[in-house]
Amino acid sequence: MIGHPGGIKSSLEARCNRILVDMEGALTARDRVGIQDFVLLDSYTSESAFLDNLRKRFHENLIYTYIGTLLVSVNPYKELGIYTKKQMDIYMGVNFFELPPHIYALSDNAYRTMLMENNNHVILISGESGAGKTESSKKILQFYAVSCPRTSLLDNVRDRLLLSNPVLEAFGNAKTLKNDNSSRFGKYMDIQFDFQGEAVGGHILSYLLEKSRVVHQNHGERNFHIFYQLVEGAEDGLLRWLGLERNCQLYRYLVQGQCAKVSSISDKTDWRTVRKALSVIEISEHLFGVIASVLHLGNIRFEADARGYATLNSSTEMHWLSKLLGVHVQVLREGLTHRKIEARAEEVLSPLTAEHAIYARDALAKAIYGRTFAWLVNKTNESLANKDSTRKTVIGLLDIYGFEVFHVNSFEQFCINYCNEKLQQLFIQLTLKSEQEEYEAEGIEWEAVPFFNNKIICDLVEEKHRGIISVLDEECLRPGEASDLTFLEKLEEKLGGHPHFVTHKLADQKTRKTLERGDFRLLHYAGEVTYCVVGFLDKNNDLLYKNIKDVSLGFLQVATQFKSSLAGLTEILMSKEPWYVRCLKPNNSKQSGCFDDVLVRHQVKYLGLMEHLRVRRAGFAYRRRFEVFLQRYKALCPDTWPHWKGKPADGVQRLVIHLGYRPDEYKMGRTKIFIRHPRTLFATEDAFEMCKHKLGECPSYVPHPPLWSSTSSATKIEACWRGMQARKERERRTWAVKVIKRFIKGFMNRNQPVCVDNAEYLTFVRQNYLIRLKENLPKNLLDKNTWLTPPPIMQEASRILHQLYVRLLVRKYILFPECNSHHLSQLQLKSLTSALFKGKKESYPQSVSKPFVATRISKEPFGKTVLGPTFYSVLVVKYDRNGFRPRQRQLVLTQAAAYLVEEAKIKQRVEYGSLKGVSVSHLSDNFLIIHVSCDDIKQKGDLVLQCDHLFELVTKLSMLANKASAIKVVQGSIRFDIHPGKEGFVDFRSGQETMVYRAKNGHLMVVSVPYCNSATINAFGGVHRPSRHIQYYNANMFTIPMSTH
Ligand SMILES: Nc1ncnc2c1ncn2[C@@H]1O[C@H](COP(=O)(O)OP(=O)(O)O)[C@@H](O)[C@H]1O
Ligand SMILES: [Mg+2]
Repeated sequence: MIGHPGGIKSSLEARCNRILVDMEGALTARDRVGIQDFVLLDSYTSESAFLDNLRKRFHENLIYTYIGTLLVSVNPYKELGIYTKKQMDIYMGVNFFELPPHIYALSDNAYRTMLMENNNHVILISGESGAGKTESSKKILQFYAVSCPRTSLLDNVRDRLLLSNPVLEAFGNAKTLKNDNSSRFGKYMDIQFDFQGEAVGGHILSYLLEKSRVVHQNHGERNFHIFYQLVEGAEDGLLRWLGLERNCQLYRYLVQGQCAKVSSISDKTDWRTVRKALSVIEISEHLFGVIASVLHLGNIRFEADARGYATLNSSTEMHWLSKLLGVHVQVLREGLTHRKIEARAEEVLSPLTAEHAIYARDALAKAIYGRTFAWLVNKTNESLANKDSTRKTVIGLLDIYGFEVFHVNSFEQFCINYCNEKLQQLFIQLTLKSEQEEYEAEGIEWEAVPFFNNKIICDLVEEKHRGIISVLDEECLRPGEASDLTFLEKLEEKLGGHPHFVTHKLADQKTRKTLERGDFRLLHYAGEVTYCVVGFLDKNNDLLYKNIKDVSLGFLQVATQFKSSLAGLTEILMSKEPWYVRCLKPNNSKQSGCFDDVLVRHQVKYLGLMEHLRVRRAGFAYRRRFEVFLQRYKALCPDTWPHWKGKPADGVQRLVIHLGYRPDEYKMGRTKIFIRHPRTLFATEDAFEMCKHKLGECPSYVPHPPLWSSTSSATKIEACWRGMQARKERERRTWAVKVIKRFIKGFMNRNQPVCVDNAEYLTFVRQNYLIRLKENLPKNLLDKNTWLTPPPIMQEASRILHQLYVRLLVRKYILFPECNSHHLSQLQLKSLTSALFKGKKESYPQSVSKPFVATRISKEPFGKTVLGPTFYSVLVVKYDRNGFRPRQRQLVLTQAAAYLVEEAKIKQRVEYGSLKGVSVSHLSDNFLIIHVSCDDIKQKGDLVLQCDHLFELVTKLSMLANKASAIKVVQGSIRFDIHPGKEGFVDFRSGQETMVYRAKNGHLMVVSVPYCNSATINAFGGVHRPSRHIQYYNANMFTIPMSTH
C-alpha cells in the first residue's frame, strides 16, 4: 500500500481497505481457489504451475483467470449460470482486481476507459476452433446491450446489434468436427458509442467465407446451418413456395457429411430465432428463394451423351431454379452445359463434359451463396448504421475462425491458419515486442524475455514474389498447363530449405514417411499442419465459366484478396487500444469437466501466455509521458500546484515522493513514468477525485495560489462576460432599427406596385392576412358571414381561398357526417324549407343564411307533464278570427299537436291529425294561416298568425305533423274558416310600408315591403333593417312591437 501524507493518505488507505473488505466479501471460498491473476503466481516461470492453477480453477468451474489485464478463458462446455443480469450489475463500474475475473469485467473496463479517454478500443478474442471465441464475443455484446445507458430510440439499435448475431451465425457457421457451431467466416464488429456512452450503431466486416462447404462437407460435418433450418423449420407454405420438401435427405448438398441431424442443434428453434431477427433487420423472404435455389442446384444431375457431353434432364429442378433466380430456363441450361470461349472477336459456346458441368454447377452454387452472404452483411450494416455524423468512439470485437487442423487440410485451412498466424503476430507486436522495445528505449533496466516471433511464418506465406500466396497467384495466372502439382513444384523450388516448410521431396527419410506426394507441411506457431494441394488453384481462382458469370459474378484471386483484407484488418486493430481474451480448449471431445493437460499445455505454449506473463510480471502496468502525468495529478502536491516551473520529470518525481510511492512501485524512464501495479494508479486516481471536491469546497486546502489571485481572475472573467453580453445587445438593437425603418417605408408605399421599398412589407401583409384568416375561418357551411375582408393585394387570393374553403367544408360535411350531426339536422330542415318555399315566397332568400334554432322560448310555459315533451316553441301574434284583433301568444309544438298558449293557459289545441294545411302568401310578410279540420266541432276554426320566424316555424310544423304537402304558398287572398260554415279572408299586397289592417271589405289586409326595398346597405357593408312594427289598421288603438329575432 502507498504511504500518503495527510488527508490523501488516510483516505487512500481507507479506500484500499474497503476494497480489500469488499474483495473478501465478494470472494466465496470457491472464488479463492488458485490464483485469480497469474501475475501473482510465485513460480511464474513454471509452465506446470501455470497449468496447475488453470486446472484447479477449471474443476471449480472458474473458467476465467487474468494475466494482468489479459483474460484467459477455458471453455467449460456447459452452462455455468454466470452470465445473468445480476452478474452484469455486479461487474458494472468496478475495477479489475476488485472482483473475481470475468469477461464482463474486461468488457466494462474497456468501456469505461473508452469513455474516460475518449478513444477507440478493440477486444481481440483468439484461440483455436471450438475454444469459445464466438461465445465470448456474444457475452460481451450482451453485456453492452444491458449495461449501457438506454433510451427507447436506441433500443432499436441495441436489438439489431444483438440480433445480427444469430443471423450471421445461421449463414456463416456450420458444424465441423471441432465445433458444432464453428464460424466459417471471420468477423470484426464495431460497436459505436456516443459521448454519453450510449450504443448508437454498429458495423461489421466479414472475412473470407468458406464457400466450398456449400457443395462439399467432410464426413461428420454439415453445410451452413441455414439450409437445415430452412428445411426443418420453415412453414409449409414457404416450403411449397420454394419447391422444397421437409426432408434434408433429399438434398445432395446437405447429406455428404452424413450427419444432417445433430443432437446439440435444434434447427427448428434456431429457425424461429433467425426468422424473427431477419424481420427486425428488415430483410425480406426473398432471401430464402436464393438459399433454396442452391439446394435445387445441388440436385441437378447431368448425363453424358454419346460424345461424352453433358445433358440435363431434371426439368423440375430447372423449373424451380428459373423461378427462384429469375433466370430463363434456357439461359440456365446453356450456362450449366456449355462454356463461352472467346475466339478472336467472337464468342463461341463449347459443350462441357459431364464432369465439367458438375464443376460449373458447384461453382455457381458457391458463387450464389457467397454473394448472398456478402449481401446479407451489407444489409445488416445498413440496418445498424448510425445516421448521426457526430464523432463516435468504438469498441471493436474481433471473433475470427480459430486455428484448425483436420485429417486432410485444404486451401480453406491454409487461409484460416494464415489468418491466425497474422493475429498472433499482431499480439506479439503489441505486447511482447513493442513492450520490451519501449523499456529499452526508455532506459528502464530490463532483462529481455525471449519469445518466439512468428513473423518468419507470416513472411513464408505472404512475402511478395517469394511467399506461398505469390507462388499460388503466379501459377493461377500463368499461361499453359498449370496444376496443383506444378504449384507444389514451384513451392519446392522457391521455398526449399525454409525451416518452416517441408514437402515429401524436401523431407528427410523419417519425415517423408508422414507425407504424401501432393502434400506440403507448414510449421505454424500453433503446430504442424499438412496441407493437401488438391484444389488450391481452383479455389484460389474461384472460377466460374464466363457465361455463368454473366448470370452472376466477377473474377477474384482469393488468397491475395484475403491477404490484403487481413492487412486492412491489422491496420484497424493497430489503431485502437487492445484488450485480449485468450480462449483455451480443455479437450478435443467437447466434454465438460475434462481437462486434457497435454492439449492445454500446448495451447498455453503456442499462444505465448508464459512469455506474456513474464513480461507482465517484470514489467509495468501503466505508463504515461511525464507532462501528461504531471498535468493530471499536479493538484495532489503543493510543490507542483498550480504550476511546476522546472523539468516535467523532476515535477513527477516530486509528486510521487509526496504521494508516497515506494521505489519498487514505479520507474522513471527517459520520457515516461512507469507504474508497476494497477492498484497504485487506481489509488492515485481516487486521491485525485477526492482532491477535486476538496478544491471546490475549500480553496485554502492547497496553500497556493493565494486567494487574491483567484478573486482577480473572477473579476476578469466577469468583465469579459459583461462585455460580451453588451456587444450582443448592441447588435440586437442595430438590427431592430433596420427592421423598423424598412417596415415604415413599406407601409408608406403599400399601394404602389411591388418594388424594393414595399416588397417586404407586402409579404408581411400577405402573411399576416393569411395567419389571421386561418384563425378566423367560418366554422360551418351555413356560416356565410364570417370571412375576413382581405387587404387590396389579397382580393383575388381571398376569393379563390374562400371558394376552396367552402368546397372543403362541403367535402368534410359529406365525408364525416357523424362529426356534423347538428349541422346535418340543420341542413335537412333547411333543405325542406327550400323545397317548400324556394322560388315561391319572396322573402325566402333572406332566410337562408339564418340558422334555425332548437326552440325560441327556453322557459317552458308548462311542466313537461302537461303537454308532453316540447319540440319547439315560438312567440306569435294571433289575429282574432272576428275583428282581427292581434294578441301575443306562444305557439308550442309537441309530438302530437300544436298549442296556442297565453301565459300558462292553453287557448287552442290543434292535433296534427286535424291539421288540414298551412297557407302563406308569396310576398315578404310573415303571416301564416293554419287550417284545421271543420268536421271537428270542438275546433274553434282556422288560426291567423304572424311570426318573425315564419320559415323556421312552418318547416318544423310540417316536419312534426308530417304535412309537407299541405303547406301552400298562395298568390292573392287566403280564405280561412272563422268557424265551420263561416269564411274569412286575408289579402296580401306589397307596399312602401309594412301594415296590417282590417280593410273595408272586411278582409284582413297585410301590406309588406319587398325584401330588396326594405334593406339598405350601411356604411360598414352590413345589412341594416329598420325595426318593424305591426300596425293595426286603427293605428291609434294599439301597436305591438316585436323583436326582429
Ligand atoms: N463460456 C461458455 N459457457 C458455456 N459454453 C461455452 C462457453 N464458451 C464456449 N462454449 C461451448 O463451446 C462451443 C464452441 O464455442 P465457440 O465460441 O463457438 O468456439 P469458437 O468460436 O472459438 O470456435 C459453444 O457452442 C458452446 O457449446
Ligand atoms: Mg467461432
